Amino acid sequence: MKKLALGCDHVGFILKQDLLAHLHSKGIEVIDKGTWSEERTDYPRYASAVAEAVIQGEVDGGLLICGTGVGISITANKFPGIRAVVCSEPYSAQLSRQHNDTNVLAFGSRVVGLELAKMIVDAWLAAEFEGGRHQARVQAISEIEQRRE
Ligand code: RB5
Repeated sequence: MKKLALGCDHVGFILKQDLLAHLHSKGIEVIDKGTWSEERTDYPRYASAVAEAVIQGEVDGGLLICGTGVGISITANKFPGIRAVVCSEPYSAQLSRQHNDTNVLAFGSRVVGLELAKMIVDAWLAAEFEGGRHQARVQAISEIEQRRE
């Protein structure tokens, strides 16, 4: 993934700023979808902005941060075509790309520190979807989404 959208609520703001620098140092282009301060706000707004950017093809994938990563990933997963995972360690982040073709990674700024967050992001970015036996399972997820539209 060469271009990412990044979003957070007020609780994730500091970690987002630190991750921006990390992503830039890796040569990744980032569209910052906010929030832009520690002023209290609501995570669904930023989850929606990042999810839309991924669905529209504006970016290759998205990163989301709130206090736990839970609310912001639940919101992103309401958008058909989004497969968001919340991770607090790199192994699940890697496998979520290889097996589940996740296109959004979320984590909690109250759960992981900067160094662990960087390891999680790096593992997610380095992994590729393996297809094969996993393709039909991901397709089955899409079919469930379509039944509900
Ligand atoms: C905000 O207090 C907090 O609820 C939010 O950042 C997130 O953790 C929700 O899932």
